[in-house]
Amino acid sequence: MAIIKATNVAYPTLQCPDLDIQEQFLIHFGMHTVSKTDDTLIMRGDGPQQFIEICKKGEKKFISTTFNAGSMGDLERLSQTNSFSSIEELTTPGGGYVTKAQDPDGIGVEVVFGIKDREIDKLPEPFPTNEGGQINRVNQLKRFNKGDTPRIIRFGHYGINSLDIEKSLEWYNEHLGIIATDILQPPSPPGEAPLTAGIFARLDKGSTPTDHHSIFWLNAHLVSESIPGLNHVSFEMLNIDDVFMGHELLKRKAKEYDYELEWGVGRHYQGSQIFDYWRSPFKQVHEHQTDGDYLDNTIPPQIVNPMSDGDPDYPEFGPSQWGAAISETFGNKEGT
Ligand SMILES: [Fe+2]
Repeated sequence: MAIIKATNVAYPTLQCPDLDIQEQFLIHFGMHTVSKTDDTLIMRGDGPQQFIEICKKGEKKFISTTFNAGSMGDLERLSQTNSFSSIEELTTPGGGYVTKAQDPDGIGVEVVFGIKDREIDKLPEPFPTNEGGQINRVNQLKRFNKGDTPRIIRFGHYGINSLDIEKSLEWYNEHLGIIATDILQPPSPPGEAPLTAGIFARLDKGSTPTDHHSIFWLNAHLVSESIPGLNHVSFEMLNIDDVFMGHELLKRKAKEYDYELEWGVGRHYQGSQIFDYWRSPFKQVHEHQTDGDYLDNTIPPQIVNPMSDGDPDYPEFGPSQWGAAISETFGNKEGT
């Protein structure tokens, strides 16, 4: 029985050696600066969240995930466990409260409550579409300004390279109610225990649909030479135009600013998002994505063979439905 059920993911906290360089990357990526001091950079998107990424100055590192609790009572329940700290007041924009822990890989886990959304006049809205014979846009021309930065509406999910992904799932399930969606398990030779390559997991919001995955673990022994840490952080874009506009902008800036296309554009199998992954100058992978699947808690975990290609024993396979093949460097230790 989970101690609480987290209601959302809030923001990642990374660490990197130069906040000016990180700020410039995140601006090109689609974010806006909230504040920058000698040791902390806070960035927001175009949605109501006060901020969607924090970066501390220091050696490259993935400091923490942050989840939202549904009530102050939930925060108190967590803080009374051995895993979590006593509750502190947040000093970041929007205020609120936090309790902190470390997951089995030593990555920080913060659970927050009471951060007030920022006041904005109007939420970003995509143009109505004229697709599939359904005409929703008449006498309105679809126009974007050339070279515009892509619009991010919210933080999406965490990708973590983990030393023991089953143990990680168990920990996040016990403390935050996280449940498995897809378990990546290539077939094992007869008599050998199955090897889990990755797990996509989601919030348990009962009958309320939620993202196919809010957290994703890859097996660090397979991808990052047994070094746990960041796999990627993912941000939800307004729509497909913003994914491709972001791709174009980052491609144009790549050489001058040392950005690297990791993998994209394509459409995933697990989660079905249209995705595009970029490495910052510090090699930390940031994803643009849109149009992902939403599931309620009635869908049981699926076993997925990541290597299968049309094997009828496996209902799904990976990693992309169309678009670029997965890069050989995806999740490697450079990005942790
Ligand atoms: Fe992702």
